[in-house]
Amino acid sequence: MNSYEQIKKLLFKLQPENAHHLAEILLRSDRFLPGVFDYIASKNLVTSEVLKQELFGCTFPNPVGLAAGFDKNATMIRGINALGFGFSEIGTVTPIAQAGNPKPRMFRHIEEETIQNAMGFNNDGLIAVRNRLEKQYPFSTPIGINIGKNKSTSEENAISDYVKLIRALHTLGDYIVINISSPNTPGLRDLQNETFIAE
Ligand SMILES: Cc1cc2nc3c(=O)[nH]c(=O)nc-3n(C[C@H](O)[C@H](O)[C@H](O)COP(=O)(O)O)c2cc1C
Repeated sequence: MNSYEQIKKLLFKLQPENAHHLAEILLRSDRFLPGVFDYIASKNLVTSEVLKQELFGCTFPNPVGLAAGFDKNATMIRGINALGFGFSEIGTVTPIAQAGNPKPRMFRHIEEETIQNAMGFNNDGLIAVRNRLEKQYPFSTPIGINIGKNKSTSEENAISDYVKLIRALHTLGDYIVINISSPNTPGLRDLQNETFIAE
């Protein structure tokens, strides 16, 4: 049994969201372990001339990134980097902190080997995330910032949420993702139209 299978046995005894919190504690522990994450990163990072890509002025050492939703609040960037990812995407971040949907809202389907997400953009909000990024940016691998509107913002005012987020965060990451696809924020997917994007 490899070490992932062993860790999985422990993690699967916990509620999925608690397993995530445990992972977060470990992946933000470098404050107490200076230099350890850099050492682990030097062992794990996969890079080669074949895998490396230059895109919009950034160097991606390999094409395997961590999608948004794992590090919603930009607390684990160095830990995630130490695992060997070629890039990672923080968020989804909304202008104002919000709690997300009532729990339980993350479901582990063991047979299907899937996780079902009904989180609803729980996050610490723009100011907290911006403060964290300001202290750390730039990073050794590219960081995307995934942005979304608050649940309480009406569809008519949605554009102002995205503008606020882009203005505040665009210098603190390497690319921005405009999230208009989550099924967990009512009406969000109605923003998938040419007028909204053009505006
Ligand atoms: C618990 C959970 C939370 C997620 N939260 C977000 C999010 O906040 N923003 C986002 O754009 N995608 C979010 N996603 C979607 C992931 O970014 C990704 O698209 C999805 O998990 C499919 O990729 P995978 O097959 O590699 O898991 C979330 C997914 C999960 C399982």
